[in-house]
Amino acid sequence: MFKEDTLKGQTILITGGGSGLGLSMADKFASLGANIGICGRTEKKLKKATEELKKYGNEVRYYSVDVRDYEKVGEMFKEMIADLGEVTGLVNNAAGNFLSASEDLSPGGFKAIVDIVLHGSFNCTHHFGNHRIKKKDKGNILNIVTTYAEDSGSAFVLPSACSKAGVLAMTRSLAFEWATYGIRVNAIAPGPFPTEGAWTRLLPSKKFEKQYLEKIPAGRYGEHDELANLAAFLMSDMAPYITGECVTIDGGEKLSAGQFNFVDSLMSRGKLKTIFKMLKMKG
Ligand code: HXC
Repeated sequence: MFKEDTLKGQTILITGGGSGLGLSMADKFASLGANIGICGRTEKKLKKATEELKKYGNEVRYYSVDVRDYEKVGEMFKEMIADLGEVTGLVNNAAGNFLSASEDLSPGGFKAIVDIVLHGSFNCTHHFGNHRIKKKDKGNILNIVTTYAEDSGSAFVLPSACSKAGVLAMTRSLAFEWATYGIRVNAIAPGPFPTEGAWTRLLPSKKFEKQYLEKIPAGRYGEHDELANLAAFLMSDMAPYITGECVTIDGGEKLSAGQFNFVDSLMSRGKLKTIFKMLKMKG
């Protein structure tokens, strides 16, 4: 889909890049010529991922940093610039989430998610933006949000819904404010892309999974490569005029609220068409 040098000359930090979608994006960016930094809390995972990512022959470094710590994030950027040169792109991917009835949440549980998702994204964005602005050079920020960040919110994941909505607001606010510095800020709202982190926490049984799959019109989950391709496009020079945008990639899941969509689940499409014909004949 892309030329092998699509991201050549870029150095991109992916938070939470040691596993899941973060690692898939890191892999795609590396395959397209970018130098890569990944950060996270679990050194073992980061180390393994770094070895994997080196297969493309670019520079890859890992940083054992919790994005909740503003000072440590600042030190990481300094270290990464010393290791790899100027950081030209940032993907705020690190997240935390769990299912809970909201009345049973502890303040600590709410805070943990808001700290990782909202404060973590701010911490990285603030340091990254300041470096680019001082350097008088353009940059790219990509925030990974969710389909429930925009309109609906979601039951049972209140801290995540509040935090991701905040990250989306940050995306649009900064897209305008930092356009003057040549810094683009976009978001991707992924629907269901299986990862160990999300699946074990959010889809704990086969029954949950079956119900979930049934509400995706495409009839399947997303593949990591599909999301990584979109991320690469938004981070590349093929999208220089796109900023403040949130691209949903969910096989149509978000559209399930359509008023008459439910009829599709009542019977086969063939039977439905027969009924529609009968209704037409009745006038
Ligand atoms: C209720 C919980 C809880 C749970 C933790 N807490 N798990 N409350 N139900 N399942 C509460 C604890 O009791 C504690 O509150 C507070 O949260 C902090 O918990 P710790 O374990 O001490 O914190 P920490 O080590 O920082 O862990 C953060 C975490 C953890 C988010 C809670 O699960 C984690 O590290 N997750 C990272 C990976 C992850 O979540 N991946 C999924 C991302 S998927 P008290 O009151 O005791 O202090 C995603 C996309 C969604 O975000 C898309 C859906 C398809």
